[in-house]
Amino acid sequence: VSDKAWSGRFSEPVSDLVKRYTASVFFDRRMWRQDIHGSLAHARMLSQQGIITTDDLAAIERGMALICQEIDSGQFHWNLDDEDVHLNIEKRLTALIGDAGKRLHTGRSRNDQVATDIRLWLRDAIDDIDGLLRELQKALLTLAESHSDTPLPGFTHLQVAQPVTFGHHLLAYFEMFQRDRERFTDCRRRVNRLPLGAAALAGTTFPIDRETVARELGFETICENSLDAVSDRDFAIEFCAAAALAMTHISRLSEELVLWMSPRLGFIDLPDRFCTGSSIMPQKKNPDVPELARGKTGRVYGHLMALLTLMKAQPLAYNKDNQEDKEPLFDTADTLVDTLRIFAEMVPGIRVKSEAMAAALRQGYATATDLADYLVKKGLPFRDAHEVVARAVRTCESRGCDLAALGLDELRTFSPLVDADVFDVLTIAGSLAARDHRGGTAPAQVRAAILRAHARL
Ligand code: ARG
Repeated sequence: VSDKAWSGRFSEPVSDLVKRYTASVFFDRRMWRQDIHGSLAHARMLSQQGIITTDDLAAIERGMALICQEIDSGQFHWNLDDEDVHLNIEKRLTALIGDAGKRLHTGRSRNDQVATDIRLWLRDAIDDIDGLLRELQKALLTLAESHSDTPLPGFTHLQVAQPVTFGHHLLAYFEMFQRDRERFTDCRRRVNRLPLGAAALAGTTFPIDRETVARELGFETICENSLDAVSDRDFAIEFCAAAALAMTHISRLSEELVLWMSPRLGFIDLPDRFCTGSSIMPQKKNPDVPELARGKTGRVYGHLMALLTLMKAQPLAYNKDNQEDKEPLFDTADTLVDTLRIFAEMVPGIRVKSEAMAAALRQGYATATDLADYLVKKGLPFRDAHEVVARAVRTCESRGCDLAALGLDELRTFSPLVDADVFDVLTIAGSLAARDHRGGTAPAQVRAAILRAHARL
């Protein structure tokens, strides 16, 4: 009825609608290199085990080399009738080399084949992502180095809380991206296991050697159970979860960039090439890249939910549902890769407007905690000190001035413990320098943290 790989069983061809509905070739063909790589490893093993002849193997290698050229040069004809990347390549192989091509699928199923292809593809994607995260971390470190003592208002509840240095703030993102890399590295260990040999679900009657195939394809080990091997997509879900968290971090950074760039704060400026204008308001320069990254985070979260839902309640072993794993997975990787690439380029272009940061710091009583700490060091219990400073802040508020502007005599009316040395702690520089421990914002500590961060890259 047709020349599909499985049509022998059928009495009528599938309709065009069903063909389109069930085909995956237009999105899974991007795994062609992995598919050929996996097929060659399988064929070599078959020949080594005496399951196919060395002549067959030579023909398969020759045919696959040709197919690689055809695909690379855009000559390959991808055919919807052949469903997916696997059947498209196998069909072309058979057209090129005859019966040897038909022997390639011995002891194998598309079920273990596709699982192998995805794992190979994802392993490469993880390596790319790790490299890009590292690039972004390097860019953050370089910017942090130039701002290890640039004061920035640290916020809680989006209100001025305490002074931090801009470098210290950037190092917070370094840590987040470091954990992201750890997560991807951990996920990679579970990606890097070979499903091939599971065949459709139960294994195969041929005397295969899975360890050899695993070694040739660079897998750390093999999937132990054939049913699990063809039906597990945990590894893809883990990847999407790690990607979702990485995008969370990107999104938080994006939100800050947008806020910082708002003329209301004016803490930074982004290079024009990362912004766009408005078609109606001539004065606008919009931070489109961070806004889009923030938006794309939602799309990556959605893919994670899609994959979790895809796997929920699937009975063992393979079900065609699994074909739906690829688009969310690919789009997750693509979105993350593009986003990281653009951020690694954009971060070095951030122009820091330290005057605006300093001006904002003069407005929110950022050193109020320092004053309370000062009184504690003079012997006042912290709760009483808190109360004293709160009253001083209220006075400042009614007058619209800063704590330091009250002057020594007036400060003493709140507590006789205040001395002339109080102004050391009421300054921004004094406040920063006083947080002088590992993990603190003192410029000396930030510089030390940057050195340690370089060593961890
Ligand atoms: N295109 C399929 C997928 O992505 C390949 C496996 C098909 N196996 C099957 N029994 N129909 O999952």
